[in-house]
Amino acid sequence: MKQQALLCLLLQLAFELSSGTNLWVVPGSSLELPCFSFQTDFPGAAITWKFNGNEINANTPNGSPRVKQGGRYIFISPVTAANEGDYSCLIKDNDREMITTYKVRVDASFNYSIKVIKGSTAHLPCHFQPAGEVKANALWFNETGLGNELLNPEGDNRVELLYPLDHDQTIIIRDVGMQDAGTYLCRSAEGAKLSSVNLIVEVAPTAPPHSCSGFTTPWEPCQDENSRTGEPMLQESITEFSMKLYSYLRESQPSSNLLFSPISIIGALSHLLLGARGDTRKAIERAVCVPHDFHCVHLQMKKLREKLAGSLQMASQIYYNPEINLNQSFIDQSIQFYDAKPVMLLDTSENNTEMINSWVANKTNNKIQHLVDSVSPSTQLMLLNAVSFTGQWKVKYEMKPRKGLFTKLDGDLVNVQLLYHPKYMVAMTYVVQLKAQVARLALTGDSSLYILLPSSRKVSDLQLVEESLTDTAVRQMIQEVQKTTPEHVEVTLPKIELDVQPDMNMLIKKLGLSSLFESSNLCGLYSEERVVLDDARHRAFLALNEQGVEAGAVTTISFSRSFPSFSALRPFIMLLWSDTANVPLFIGRVTDP
Ligand SMILES: *[C@@H]1O[C@H](CO)[C@@H](O)[C@H](O)[C@H]1NC(C)=O
Ligand SMILES: *[C@@H]1O[C@H](CO)[C@@H](O)[C@H](O)[C@H]1NC(C)=O
Ligand SMILES: *[C@@H]1O[C@H](CO)[C@@H](O)[C@H](O)[C@H]1NC(C)=O
Ligand SMILES: *[C@@H]1O[C@H](CO)[C@@H](O)[C@H](O)[C@H]1NC(C)=O
Ligand SMILES: *[C@@H]1O[C@H](CO)[C@@H](O)[C@H](O)[C@H]1NC(C)=O
Repeated sequence: MKQQALLCLLLQLAFELSSGTNLWVVPGSSLELPCFSFQTDFPGAAITWKFNGNEINANTPNGSPRVKQGGRYIFISPVTAANEGDYSCLIKDNDREMITTYKVRVDASFNYSIKVIKGSTAHLPCHFQPAGEVKANALWFNETGLGNELLNPEGDNRVELLYPLDHDQTIIIRDVGMQDAGTYLCRSAEGAKLSSVNLIVEVAPTAPPHSCSGFTTPWEPCQDENSRTGEPMLQESITEFSMKLYSYLRESQPSSNLLFSPISIIGALSHLLLGARGDTRKAIERAVCVPHDFHCVHLQMKKLREKLAGSLQMASQIYYNPEINLNQSFIDQSIQFYDAKPVMLLDTSENNTEMINSWVANKTNNKIQHLVDSVSPSTQLMLLNAVSFTGQWKVKYEMKPRKGLFTKLDGDLVNVQLLYHPKYMVAMTYVVQLKAQVARLALTGDSSLYILLPSSRKVSDLQLVEESLTDTAVRQMIQEVQKTTPEHVEVTLPKIELDVQPDMNMLIKKLGLSSLFESSNLCGLYSEERVVLDDARHRAFLALNEQGVEAGAVTTISFSRSFPSFSALRPFIMLLWSDTANVPLFIGRVTDP
């Protein structure tokens, strides 16, 4: 939307007598050209507009360009390449004549001039128009003295296309040298020019020494530990944050299976927040939708973790390089709020990989056994959060194996194993705002699995539901379904095992935290050197079987004819919800079980 607004610049122009005015215009925008200044008036004068020497007909009501107010203006909307050329306005009365001219050039490309410090990473921006599907990546060229040289992100490890097949075709050039200065061009595969970047490389000014002075105070105490507003405030933050993440993920992956645990991501970010100061603190607070003066956020996270402990176990951990000295008050608060005593990293990458993967396996109850392939020797700090969820069905499903057909988004049928129950207590209702049929299956440990079934298997119907899925709509849905009386229904669900690794680095950027990759103020945690974020990951696993849900959930339900029926044998969205804490634990989408 923002980009569209940008393209819709309405140019109000001050006019310049006789000396033709040169104008660059972006296609799709609107252009208004005045014939003469507002102060002057020419009563009774005849006004004629010409485009490339040909008169523009003033009497065509919806023509483009359209002559307005008897010739005082012409208006062009939307501007296209055909509008490129010379426009002139001739005013003639008895004793004088005046001509105003404009040279209009239409250019879709954006010109950027970017200044970076030698040795740093340069981001070169390039965007496709927001409308339309991205079928091929843009091509980036280096304008050298010997012509344009195609950059090869695959073959050159200094160059990386950040978001392949996304509307954002930004590339980065790592470790920029003086020889990289110059012009870079981004073109679509069809040859349309999208952006031109003039890269200026400068030698770093003698950088001010890293200083945490003024930033080493501990996290503020929570003034009112028993305040009634703390808990609902955190619930709101988590739900808002969760739905924001879902919307980022669905945009980048419109049709595949999805799964993530918002509670785990917020657990890691709020732990990091404990040591963040200055702008980094503000950026994380904004990202996790927490008000700046909400000093009780860590205490509330602790209470939430304790409240959920019956069904969801959450664990945090910090690994750090033995060469750095973590601040003692941070260590104390980390233990107090996150039950995490920082642990030193070992000598080799293999030992660290092994240590971290076994911690992850242990804390996820062996559901996720592998997270990292290696640990770089330059790693200073690693912050981890793991959650493990187990919820059993209130009534067990039939053990006899059954098979059925799930209809995918493209209409293909896939054979799936089914969970079947002839008479299961389900609360279900059609939620108008979400345009979806919603069923709630209660689990042990005060949690529920909500399944949101769009009107059909079509992508457009799935998208209708996803677009309406805001935090407010989800809260209303939960209330509405909780008011619905459960009834006996014949339930058929697909058996599912999802194991998904959403792109956390992309999420970090979308959350407005890309500055953490360049410089993070973690002065509360460690104040001796500057640290920067270099990698972020998320992996979620969810299995749905005869016993219940492990770590997350996926479901298919169907009812026999004599009962009302709810059949999810086509793509659906699901939310694993904690009824006690009133926050989402896992969110997923099943398009291919
Ligand atoms: C953008 O830069 C290119 C090359 O530097 C130049 O040819 C073009 O005229 C510029 N366009 C605008 C709108 O300034
Ligand atoms: C662009 O071309 C110049 C040579 O003209 C080269 O030195 C520089 O490394 C190139 N930049 C990239 C990012 O490949
Ligand atoms: C550690 O933090 C405390 C307060 O949080 C501060 O007073 C102290 O100076 C810090 N220590 C270092 C080494 O930065
Ligand atoms: C590191 O790994 C090596 C080889 O796998 C092993 O022999 C050694 O005991 C490990 N060290 C620690 C501290 O775990
Ligand atoms: C995790 O580690 C603890 C302590 O070593 C152990 O008691 C527990 O059984 C482990 N859990 C798993 C799932 O391996």
